[in-house]
Amino acid sequence: MKLSSIVSALLLSQGPFVQAIDKKDLEGTWSSKSNQVFTGPGFYDPVDELIIEPSLPGISYSFTEDGHWEMATYLVSANPQDPSCPSAAITFQHGSYDLLDNGTLILNPIHVDGRQLVSDPCNDHGTSTYNRYNQTITFHHFYIRLDDYHGMYKLQLFQFDESPLQPLYLAYRPPMMLPTETLNPTESASSGSAQSTGKSKRSLRDTIRRNLENKHRTNAVKSKPKGILNSDLVWYLSVGMIGVGSMIFLSS
Ligand SMILES: *[C@@H]1O[C@H](CO)[C@@H](O)[C@H](O)[C@H]1NC(C)=O
Ligand SMILES: *[C@@H]1O[C@H](CO)[C@@H](O)[C@H](O)[C@H]1NC(C)=O
Repeated sequence: MKLSSIVSALLLSQGPFVQAIDKKDLEGTWSSKSNQVFTGPGFYDPVDELIIEPSLPGISYSFTEDGHWEMATYLVSANPQDPSCPSAAITFQHGSYDLLDNGTLILNPIHVDGRQLVSDPCNDHGTSTYNRYNQTITFHHFYIRLDDYHGMYKLQLFQFDESPLQPLYLAYRPPMMLPTETLNPTESASSGSAQSTGKSKRSLRDTIRRNLENKHRTNAVKSKPKGILNSDLVWYLSVGMIGVGSMIFLSS
Protein backbone atom coordinates (compact mmCIF):
# COMPACT_ATOMS: atom_id res chain seq x y z
CA MET A 1 0.00 0.00 0.00
CA LYS A 2 1.39 3.36 -1.00
CA LEU A 3 1.86 5.98 1.65
CA SER A 4 -0.37 8.42 -0.20
CA SER A 5 -3.31 6.01 -0.12
CA ILE A 6 -2.81 5.41 3.61
CA VAL A 7 -2.82 9.14 4.19
CA SER A 8 -5.95 9.67 2.13
CA ALA A 9 -7.67 6.78 3.90
CA LEU A 10 -6.89 8.47 7.20
CA LEU A 11 -8.20 11.77 5.93
CA LEU A 12 -11.35 10.15 4.60
CA SER A 13 -12.06 8.44 7.87
CA GLN A 14 -12.02 11.83 9.58
CA GLY A 15 -13.62 13.74 6.74
CA PRO A 16 -17.32 13.68 7.59
CA PHE A 17 -16.87 15.12 11.06
CA VAL A 18 -16.20 18.80 11.61
CA GLN A 19 -15.26 19.81 15.13
CA ALA A 20 -17.85 22.54 15.40
CA ILE A 21 -16.31 24.98 17.80
CA ASP A 22 -15.70 27.39 14.97
CA LYS A 23 -18.08 30.17 13.94
CA LYS A 24 -16.94 29.67 10.36
CA ASP A 25 -18.54 26.19 10.30
CA LEU A 26 -21.81 27.58 11.68
CA GLU A 27 -22.09 30.23 8.97
CA GLY A 28 -25.05 29.73 6.65
CA THR A 29 -28.80 29.23 6.49
CA TRP A 30 -29.88 25.86 7.86
CA SER A 31 -33.31 24.36 7.27
CA SER A 32 -35.19 21.28 8.43
CA LYS A 33 -36.11 18.42 6.11
CA SER A 34 -39.26 20.02 4.68
CA ASN A 35 -36.92 22.54 3.03
CA GLN A 36 -39.78 25.06 3.02
CA VAL A 37 -38.86 27.37 5.87
CA PHE A 38 -35.93 29.73 5.46
CA THR A 39 -34.87 32.82 7.35
CA GLY A 40 -34.74 36.06 5.42
CA PRO A 41 -37.17 38.36 3.59
CA GLY A 42 -39.34 35.45 2.39
CA PHE A 43 -40.38 34.70 5.98
CA TYR A 44 -40.65 38.07 7.73
CA ASP A 45 -41.26 41.51 6.30
CA PRO A 46 -39.92 43.99 8.87
CA VAL A 47 -41.26 47.05 7.02
CA ASP A 48 -44.88 46.02 7.47
CA GLU A 49 -44.03 43.75 10.43
CA LEU A 50 -45.67 40.80 8.71
CA ILE A 51 -44.91 37.10 8.98
CA ILE A 52 -45.28 35.27 5.69
CA GLU A 53 -46.69 31.78 6.26
CA PRO A 54 -44.55 29.02 4.72
CA SER A 55 -46.34 26.25 2.81
CA LEU A 56 -45.21 23.53 5.24
CA PRO A 57 -44.04 23.45 8.85
CA GLY A 58 -40.32 23.49 9.51
CA ILE A 59 -37.55 25.45 11.17
CA SER A 60 -34.59 27.45 9.98
CA TYR A 61 -31.64 29.08 11.69
CA SER A 62 -29.04 31.33 10.10
CA PHE A 63 -25.68 32.34 11.52
CA THR A 64 -23.02 34.77 10.36
CA GLU A 65 -19.37 34.27 11.12
CA ASP A 66 -19.32 37.62 12.95
CA GLY A 67 -21.85 36.58 15.57
CA HIS A 68 -25.38 37.29 14.31
CA TRP A 69 -28.26 34.82 14.12
CA GLU A 70 -31.82 34.68 12.80
CA MET A 71 -34.58 32.15 13.44
CA ALA A 72 -37.72 31.23 11.50
CA THR A 73 -39.95 28.48 12.87
CA TYR A 74 -43.36 27.16 11.87
CA LEU A 75 -44.44 24.54 14.39
CA VAL A 76 -47.71 22.62 14.34
CA SER A 77 -48.93 20.70 17.38
CA ALA A 78 -51.49 17.94 17.13
CA ASN A 79 -54.57 18.21 19.30
CA PRO A 80 -55.03 14.70 20.77
CA GLN A 81 -58.72 15.38 21.47
CA ASP A 82 -59.46 16.57 17.96
CA PRO A 83 -57.02 15.70 15.17
CA SER A 84 -58.75 18.17 12.86
CA CYS A 85 -57.75 21.00 15.22
CA PRO A 86 -53.97 21.37 15.30
CA SER A 87 -52.56 24.60 16.67
CA ALA A 88 -49.67 26.40 15.02
CA ALA A 89 -47.04 28.95 15.97
CA ILE A 90 -44.91 30.90 13.51
CA THR A 91 -42.02 32.76 15.08
CA PHE A 92 -39.31 35.18 13.97
CA GLN A 93 -36.34 36.29 16.09
CA HIS A 94 -32.84 37.55 15.48
CA GLY A 95 -29.91 38.90 17.45
CA SER A 96 -26.34 38.11 18.36
CA TYR A 97 -24.91 34.86 19.64
CA ASP A 98 -22.18 33.70 22.00
CA LEU A 99 -20.29 30.48 21.35
CA LEU A 100 -18.76 29.42 24.67
CA ASP A 101 -15.49 27.51 24.89
CA ASN A 102 -17.30 24.40 26.13
CA GLY A 103 -19.48 24.29 23.00
CA THR A 104 -22.66 25.85 24.44
CA LEU A 105 -24.34 28.25 22.02
CA ILE A 106 -26.42 31.14 23.41
CA LEU A 107 -28.73 33.10 21.10
CA ASN A 108 -29.54 36.54 22.52
CA PRO A 109 -32.54 38.18 20.81
CA ILE A 110 -33.04 41.83 19.93
CA HIS A 111 -36.01 42.14 22.28
CA VAL A 112 -38.15 44.53 20.26
CA ASP A 113 -37.84 42.65 16.96
CA GLY A 114 -39.21 39.15 17.67
CA ARG A 115 -42.74 38.33 16.46
CA GLN A 116 -45.01 35.34 16.93
CA LEU A 117 -48.25 34.40 15.21
CA VAL A 118 -50.29 31.78 17.07
CA SER A 119 -53.31 30.06 15.62
CA ASP A 120 -55.49 27.76 17.71
CA PRO A 121 -58.53 27.43 15.44
CA CYS A 122 -60.75 25.50 17.86
CA ASN A 123 -60.21 27.91 20.74
CA ASP A 124 -59.53 31.31 19.21
CA HIS A 125 -62.68 31.52 17.06
CA GLY A 126 -60.58 31.82 13.95
CA THR A 127 -58.62 34.87 15.08
CA SER A 128 -54.89 34.26 15.31
CA THR A 129 -52.91 36.24 17.83
CA TYR A 130 -49.88 38.22 16.75
CA ASN A 131 -47.47 39.43 19.39
CA ARG A 132 -43.98 40.56 20.14
CA TYR A 133 -41.80 37.65 21.15
CA ASN A 134 -38.43 37.52 22.88
CA GLN A 135 -36.77 34.41 24.16
CA THR A 136 -33.11 33.72 24.78
CA ILE A 137 -32.30 30.31 23.29
CA THR A 138 -29.54 28.12 24.69
CA PHE A 139 -28.21 25.10 22.86
CA HIS A 140 -26.24 22.82 25.18
CA HIS A 141 -23.98 21.71 22.33
CA PHE A 142 -24.11 20.95 18.61
CA TYR A 143 -22.20 19.27 15.85
CA ILE A 144 -21.88 19.67 12.10
CA ARG A 145 -21.07 16.80 9.80
CA LEU A 146 -21.48 15.76 6.22
CA ASP A 147 -24.61 13.63 6.04
CA ASP A 148 -23.75 10.63 3.85
CA TYR A 149 -27.35 9.96 2.91
CA HIS A 150 -28.33 13.46 1.81
CA GLY A 151 -24.90 14.60 0.72
CA MET A 152 -25.47 17.83 2.63
CA TYR A 153 -23.92 19.39 5.70
CA LYS A 154 -26.09 18.64 8.69
CA LEU A 155 -26.33 20.78 11.84
CA GLN A 156 -27.48 18.89 14.91
CA LEU A 157 -28.41 21.21 17.77
CA PHE A 158 -29.10 19.97 21.28
CA GLN A 159 -31.51 21.90 23.47
CA PHE A 160 -30.69 22.98 26.99
CA ASP A 161 -31.96 19.64 28.38
CA GLU A 162 -29.63 17.93 25.84
CA SER A 163 -32.51 16.57 23.76
CA PRO A 164 -31.85 16.88 20.02
CA LEU A 165 -33.67 19.39 17.83
CA GLN A 166 -34.77 18.05 14.45
CA PRO A 167 -31.67 18.00 12.20
CA LEU A 168 -31.03 21.01 9.98
CA TYR A 169 -29.35 20.93 6.58
CA LEU A 170 -27.23 23.63 4.99
CA ALA A 171 -29.38 25.53 2.48
CA TYR A 172 -27.43 28.75 1.83
CA ARG A 173 -23.85 29.81 2.49
CA PRO A 174 -23.39 32.78 2.78
CA PRO A 175 -26.70 32.89 4.67
CA MET A 176 -30.01 34.40 3.56
CA MET A 177 -30.88 36.87 6.31
CA LEU A 178 -32.58 40.16 7.04
CA PRO A 179 -30.38 43.09 8.09
CA THR A 180 -28.79 42.16 11.41
CA GLU A 181 -29.38 45.51 13.15
CA THR A 182 -32.53 46.41 15.13
CA LEU A 183 -35.40 46.47 12.63
CA ASN A 184 -38.30 47.90 14.60
CA PRO A 185 -37.05 50.31 17.24
CA THR A 186 -39.79 51.74 19.45
CA GLU A 187 -39.91 54.29 22.24
CA SER A 188 -39.61 51.48 24.78
CA ALA A 189 -36.47 50.07 23.22
CA SER A 190 -33.51 51.10 25.29
CA SER A 191 -30.98 49.66 22.89
CA GLY A 192 -30.87 49.79 19.14
CA SER A 193 -28.89 51.48 16.47
CA ALA A 194 -31.50 54.15 15.73
CA GLN A 195 -32.84 56.88 17.98
CA SER A 196 -36.51 56.57 18.72
CA THR A 197 -37.59 59.71 16.91
CA GLY A 198 -40.02 59.27 14.04
CA LYS A 199 -37.55 60.65 11.59
CA SER A 200 -34.68 58.30 12.25
CA LYS A 201 -37.12 55.42 12.52
CA ARG A 202 -38.43 56.21 9.07
CA SER A 203 -34.97 56.40 7.60
CA LEU A 204 -34.09 53.02 9.04
CA ARG A 205 -37.29 51.59 7.58
CA ASP A 206 -36.42 53.08 4.22
CA THR A 207 -33.05 51.42 4.44
CA ILE A 208 -34.68 48.10 5.13
CA ARG A 209 -37.15 48.59 2.31
CA ARG A 210 -34.28 49.21 -0.07
CA ASN A 211 -32.54 46.20 1.32
CA LEU A 212 -35.62 44.08 0.63
CA GLU A 213 -36.00 45.50 -2.86
CA ASN A 214 -32.43 44.43 -3.46
CA LYS A 215 -33.06 40.96 -2.20
CA HIS A 216 -32.55 39.43 -5.64
CA ARG A 217 -29.04 40.72 -5.40
CA THR A 218 -28.48 38.98 -2.08
CA ASN A 219 -25.12 37.28 -1.70
CA ALA A 220 -26.80 34.16 -0.31
CA VAL A 221 -25.67 31.13 -2.27
CA LYS A 222 -27.79 28.02 -2.46
CA SER A 223 -25.94 25.05 -1.10
CA LYS A 224 -25.47 22.09 -3.44
CA PRO A 225 -26.69 19.47 -4.03
CA LYS A 226 -30.00 21.27 -3.80
CA GLY A 227 -33.33 19.64 -3.08
CA ILE A 228 -32.42 17.64 -0.01
CA LEU A 229 -35.55 15.53 -0.01
CA ASN A 230 -39.05 15.91 -1.25
CA SER A 231 -41.23 16.59 1.74
CA ASP A 232 -42.43 13.12 2.40
CA LEU A 233 -45.64 12.18 4.12
CA VAL A 234 -43.97 10.27 6.93
CA TRP A 235 -42.01 13.32 7.92
CA TYR A 236 -45.00 15.57 7.63
CA LEU A 237 -47.02 13.35 9.95
CA SER A 238 -44.25 13.36 12.52
CA VAL A 239 -44.08 17.16 12.61
CA GLY A 240 -46.89 17.30 15.13
CA MET A 241 -44.87 15.44 17.72
CA ILE A 242 -41.74 17.40 17.01
CA GLY A 243 -43.76 20.57 17.30
CA VAL A 244 -45.06 19.77 20.76
CA GLY A 245 -41.56 19.16 22.08
CA SER A 246 -40.16 22.25 20.47
CA MET A 247 -42.94 24.46 21.70
CA ILE A 248 -42.48 23.25 25.24
CA PHE A 249 -38.85 24.08 24.90
CA LEU A 250 -39.50 27.53 23.45
CA SER A 251 -41.91 28.53 26.18
CA SER A 252 -39.86 27.21 29.06
C1 LIG B 1 -20.90 25.54 29.40
O1 LIG B 1 -20.82 26.56 30.35
C2 LIG B 1 -22.06 27.19 30.65
C3 LIG B 1 -21.80 28.35 31.58
O2 LIG B 1 -20.86 28.04 32.54
C4 LIG B 1 -23.03 26.15 31.23
O3 LIG B 1 -24.27 26.76 31.51
C5 LIG B 1 -23.21 25.03 30.22
O4 LIG B 1 -24.04 24.03 30.74
C6 LIG B 1 -21.86 24.45 29.82
N1 LIG B 1 -22.07 23.54 28.71
C7 LIG B 1 -21.58 22.29 28.68
C8 LIG B 1 -21.77 21.53 27.42
O5 LIG B 1 -21.01 21.77 29.64
C1 LIG C 1 -38.87 40.31 26.90
O1 LIG C 1 -39.47 39.26 27.66
C2 LIG C 1 -39.45 39.49 29.06
C3 LIG C 1 -40.08 38.30 29.74
O2 LIG C 1 -39.96 37.14 29.00
C4 LIG C 1 -40.20 40.76 29.40
O3 LIG C 1 -40.11 40.99 30.78
C5 LIG C 1 -39.59 41.92 28.64
O4 LIG C 1 -40.34 43.09 28.88
C6 LIG C 1 -39.57 41.62 27.15
N1 LIG C 1 -38.89 42.73 26.47
C7 LIG C 1 -39.43 43.35 25.43
C8 LIG C 1 -38.67 44.52 24.92
O5 LIG C 1 -40.47 43.02 24.94
